[in-house]
Amino acid sequence: MIQFDEKTGVFHLSNEHISYVLQVVRGRYLMHRYFGRRLCAFRDSRPFQEIDRGFSPQPAAYENERTFSLDVLPQEYPAYGHTDFRIPAYEVRLADGTTTTELFYQSYEIAKGKPQLQGLPASYAADDEAETLTVHLEDSQGKLAVDLLYTIFAEADVIARSARLYNSGKEALDLLNAASFAMDLPDHDYDRLNLWGGHAAERTLERVPLMHGIEETASRRGSSSHQASPFLALLRRDAGETSGEVLGFSLVWSGEFSLKTEVEQFGTTRVVGGINPFEFRWHLEPGESFQTPEALLVYSDAGLNGMSQAFHEVVRHHIVRGRFRDEVRPILVNNWEATYFDFDDAKMDNLAACAKDLGLELMVLDDGWFGKREDDNSSLGDWKVNTEKLKGGLTGVAESAHKRGLKFGLWFEPEMISVDSDLYRAHPDWALKAPDYPYTFSRHQLVLDLSRADVRDYVVDSVCTILDNAPIDYVKWDFNRHLTDAFSAKLPPERQGEVRTRFVLGLYDVLERITQTHPDVLFESCSGGGGRFDAGMLYYMPQTWTSDDTDAICRLSIQSGTSLVFPPITMGAHVSVTPNHQVGRVTPMQTRAFAAMMGCYGYELDITRMSDEEKAEVRSHVELYKKIRPTMQLGHFYRLLTPFDGKGNETAWEFVSKDSREIVLVYFKTLATPATEIRTLKLQSLNEDALYEVSTYIPAKGLSHDGAGSKSLSLEGKSFYGDELMYSGIEVPKIDTDFAAYLWIFHKKD
Ligand code: DGJ
Repeated sequence: MIQFDEKTGVFHLSNEHISYVLQVVRGRYLMHRYFGRRLCAFRDSRPFQEIDRGFSPQPAAYENERTFSLDVLPQEYPAYGHTDFRIPAYEVRLADGTTTTELFYQSYEIAKGKPQLQGLPASYAADDEAETLTVHLEDSQGKLAVDLLYTIFAEADVIARSARLYNSGKEALDLLNAASFAMDLPDHDYDRLNLWGGHAAERTLERVPLMHGIEETASRRGSSSHQASPFLALLRRDAGETSGEVLGFSLVWSGEFSLKTEVEQFGTTRVVGGINPFEFRWHLEPGESFQTPEALLVYSDAGLNGMSQAFHEVVRHHIVRGRFRDEVRPILVNNWEATYFDFDDAKMDNLAACAKDLGLELMVLDDGWFGKREDDNSSLGDWKVNTEKLKGGLTGVAESAHKRGLKFGLWFEPEMISVDSDLYRAHPDWALKAPDYPYTFSRHQLVLDLSRADVRDYVVDSVCTILDNAPIDYVKWDFNRHLTDAFSAKLPPERQGEVRTRFVLGLYDVLERITQTHPDVLFESCSGGGGRFDAGMLYYMPQTWTSDDTDAICRLSIQSGTSLVFPPITMGAHVSVTPNHQVGRVTPMQTRAFAAMMGCYGYELDITRMSDEEKAEVRSHVELYKKIRPTMQLGHFYRLLTPFDGKGNETAWEFVSKDSREIVLVYFKTLATPATEIRTLKLQSLNEDALYEVSTYIPAKGLSHDGAGSKSLSLEGKSFYGDELMYSGIEVPKIDTDFAAYLWIFHKKD
C-alpha cells in the first residue's frame, strides 16, 4: 500500500512486514525518513534536528538559516557539491562544464503493479501483487529531470528502486554517474557484509564493522564478476542467521557495479548503489533519457535467513520468467569434466546410454562442438557444427539422446570471438579494442562489441539458426573473460564512456530476442562458473552454473554464500569425479550427491567409467532426488549452519516444501574431530503443534565404529511435534570420518 499525506509531504509505502517512508521537505527536497519494520503510520517521532553545523553550507534560498544544510539531511537521490559533500547518487557535466544541478520535487504518481524498465531486466508484478510510486524531480534551472521509481510488493519484503534521468534542457549534457538508489540511515551501528571471491571460488562471506569514510564493493570488469557480487548487507551488530535487523541490497544488473557506504562526520550512513561510475559516461542530447538498472532493497528483522527469504521470494516470483519458473529442472549429465574437448558421436552416444540407465534426464554437450575447436585457442564466433567430430551433426547427437529418452542441451559462448575464426577474419572490427594498442587476451579470446546492432544481429541469428535446426532442449550460455580495452569502432570519442554499459544493454537485447523466441528451451547462464550470478541474468535464464569448482566441500561455502541472495533452484550443482579436478580432494559419493542436491542436480564426470557399485549408488541418489526434488527446488530454504560460522567445519541446510508437509535436512561435517562436540540441529519454520515423522534417515558411511553409533541414534520411523524439533532439536551422531554427509526427511502427519 502507498499513501501520500499532502499536508506533511510524507509518502508511506508498506506491506504486512515493512515500511519505507520518504518526505518532501520545504516543498522541494526529497528526504529519506525510514526503512524498516512495518509502521501503522509515520507521524515523525524523530523530526530533523536543526543544528548549525560548521562548514555545512546553505542553499541560496536559506542563506540566513544556518541550521539548514543538505550536508546533514537524509536524502533519497543526492547531488554533489550543492551543499552536500557526501557521495552523490548522480553527477552530470553540463555543456558549459558545470557539474552543479539541484533537483526539486515536482509531482508524483501512484500506480498498481510494476512498470517494466525499457531494455533492462527488472522485477515484474501483476496489478494485485505490487504498487509503484513515481516521484518527479526537476533541476531548478530546467537542465535535468529525474524520475525515481519505488515499488513495494505485497508478498515480498522488498522495495524495488530505479531512476530515470532526462536531459530536459536545451543543450547536451553528460551523465558521469547515475546510481539506482541512495539511502541515508540515521546511525552507523552496522556490520558490512559482502560476498567476495575469485574464479572457482565465488561468494565467500566477509563481515566487518562499518567504518567511518567510504567503503565500496565493486566490479570494474565489465561484468558482475566472480570477484565481487552486486550485493551488500548491513547488519545490526547482534544480527545473525536467524535474528536481528538486516538491510540487503542487490542489483538487477550484470555489468560493472558499485555499492558504497559512507559513514560521515555525524555518524549517519549513506548507501549508494548502481552502475560503477568509474569509466562511466553517458551523453544525453536534449530530450534523451537514461534509465538506471533496478536495485532490490530488503529489510529483515529475522537475520540473514529472513533477508534471504525475501530475496528468494522476489527472485523466484518476480525476476525469473517463463515456464521453467515453476517447473522442476531436469537431472543432467554434462560432458565437460568427462571428456573436455575430446569427444565424438560414439562417446556422446555411450554417455547418453549410460545416463539413461542411471535415471538421468538431460545430456549436455559442452564446449568444442563447433568450428575447428580442439582446445580453447580457436573458433569462437563460428557457430557451425564440426562434422569431423560429430559425423551426424547436431541433429545426430541430439536425436541419439532423444531416442534414448533424454533431453539434449548445447553449450555456447556467443559474446566472444577468437582471432583464429572465420568471423574474425571477416570482421576484425567486431572485437572490442583500443585503437593504436595491441589486443589484450584472456583464455586466448576477445570480446564482441555488443554495443553494435550488426554484431547483435549476427549473434542472435547464429544462435537461433542452431536452435531452430536441431532439437535442442537446453542451452548453457558461457562468458569466459572480462572486458578490457572496451572501445567500440562504431561510436564517436565522446560516447566511448558508454561502451561498457552498452555492452551489457546489448547483451540484454540479444538475450531477450533469443530467449523469448525459444520459450521451451531451458537456459542456464555461466561465466567460467558463477562469474555472472546476478538477478539480471536470471531474468533471462532461470538458472546459473554456480562455480567451476565442483569439489563438494568447496561447494558447501560457495552455495551457502550464493544462497544469501539466490534460491537453490537457480544454482547449477553437479557431482564430479574424485580426485576432484580443481582441488584434488577425494570425497564420498554420498557427500558429493547431497551437496549437489541443494541446486539443480546433475553429474559432470565420465559415468561410463564408473564401477557397478558406483552406478548402483548413483541410481539410488537419482531415485531419492526425484522424490524430494519439488521440495528442494520449489520450497523454502534455510541455512542452519554454514562454513562461515565458527570453525567452518559444519554445514546444515533445511528445505521445506511449498505446502510445508515435507522437510529435507542435510548436514555435512568436513573434518572429523576426536573430542567432538555433539551437534544439535534445530529445525525452522515448522508448525509447533503438528506431528512430523522421520521417514528417511541416511547417515554418513564409513564410520570407524561401524555405524553402530548412528544406528542407535536413528530417529527413523519416530514422530515428533514441530515445537520439539525447532526448540529442542535433533542430535547428529558422532562421526569418525572426514567429509561426512547426512540426510533426513520428515513428513508432516495429518
Ligand atoms: C567454463 C564453464 O564454467 C565450464 O563449465 C565449461 O563450460 C567451460 N567454460 C568450457 O569452455
